[in-house]
Amino acid sequence: MGDIITIKNPLDMHLHLREGEILEAVFPYTYERFIGGVVMPNLSIPISNTQLALDYQHTLKTLNPSFLPLIALYLTDTLTQAELHKAHHHGLKILKLYPKGATTNSQNGVSEILNPHTLELLEEAQKLEMILSIHAESNGYSLDREYEFLPIIEELASSFPKLKIIIEHLSDHRSIEVLEKHANLFATLTLHHITLSLDDMLGGGLKPHLFCKPILKTPKDRDTLLSLALQAHPKISFGSDSAPHLESKKLSPSGSAGIFSAPMLLEQLCELFEKHNALENLQAFVSDNAIKNYNLDIKSEKTITLQKKSQSIPLEISLQQDRIIPLNAGMSCNWKII
Ligand code: NCD
Ligand code: ZN
Repeated sequence: MGDIITIKNPLDMHLHLREGEILEAVFPYTYERFIGGVVMPNLSIPISNTQLALDYQHTLKTLNPSFLPLIALYLTDTLTQAELHKAHHHGLKILKLYPKGATTNSQNGVSEILNPHTLELLEEAQKLEMILSIHAESNGYSLDREYEFLPIIEELASSFPKLKIIIEHLSDHRSIEVLEKHANLFATLTLHHITLSLDDMLGGGLKPHLFCKPILKTPKDRDTLLSLALQAHPKISFGSDSAPHLESKKLSPSGSAGIFSAPMLLEQLCELFEKHNALENLQAFVSDNAIKNYNLDIKSEKTITLQKKSQSIPLEISLQQDRIIPLNAGMSCNWKII
C-alpha cells in the first residue's frame, strides 16, 4: 500500500450543504471527495415535502451533475401518509426526525416523538422500506442528551423491527450497547466526535467553532467511538455532519451549533486511520458499510487516490461579506488527493 491509497466510491452519510452563496462555496469540498451522501433538510425553509426535495435536488445537480444527493425528508407534525408515498415514489428514501428545538433549524421538528401521528407515519415508512435518521437528543443536560434519548430509540427500534433506524452523529459511548442490541439500529460517526473531546472546545480558550450538537463529550466517549470507526464497525457509516455557519453567526450571542468539516475530510481520515494502523478499514468506514446499510445501488465506480504529502487545511472560506472557518483550519494534513 505504501504512500498511496485508493478509496472506491466514498460517501458522506450526513452533511449540510445549505443554500445560495454558502452552498456554492462549500459544495465543491464535498463533491471533489465524495460520490454522494445524505444531504440534511434543515434549510431555512425545511425540506418537508417532495416538491421541495426535488427542487433542492435539482439545484444540487445543476452545481454538480455527478454527485448523488440522498436528500432526507424532514419529518414534521404535518407530514401526511400521501406525501410520504409521493416522496417514496420519487425516490426519496430517508426520513429525518428532529426533536423540536434540538439543533439548528429544528423548530419544525416533532415535539412529542411517540405520538400517534408520528407512529403511523413510521409504520408506513417501514412498509415502504424507507430509512429513519434520527437526531437523537433529549432537551436535558447537554452531556446526557443522547443518553436520555435512548429509551425512545429502543421503543422505536422494537415497535418497527423492519424499519432501519440510524442514530446520527453518535457521540456517547453509552449508546453503543443499544446500537448492538437491535438488529435494525445503525449509526453515523463524524470526524470531530472521534478525534475531539469537550476540552478541545473549552478546556483552554473557548473555541466557538468547535461548538456543535451533539456536544463533544468525554475522552472516553471519543476513544470508544474512535475504536468503532477504526475497526469499521459494520453498523456504522461515516457521516461528517459538516455544518457550515457564517462566522458572524458562530460568534453571535446565540452561537450557532455546527462544525464545518468538509474541507479535507478524506485526507484527515486517511491521516487518522494511518496513525492507528487501520488504513485497511477506511474503505469500509467511508463507503462499503453505507452501501450495505442504506441498500444503495451504485452503478458507476469512482475512485479517489490519495498520496502521503503534506498540505494545509484552509484558514477560512471567504464569502462576500463574511467567512466560514473550517475544522482544524490552518493545521497541516499529511495526505493529499492526487
Ligand atoms: C447542524 C446544523 O448546523 O445544521 N448543527 C450541528 O451542530 N450539528 C444540525 C445538526 O445536525 O444537528
Ligand atoms: Zn447534522
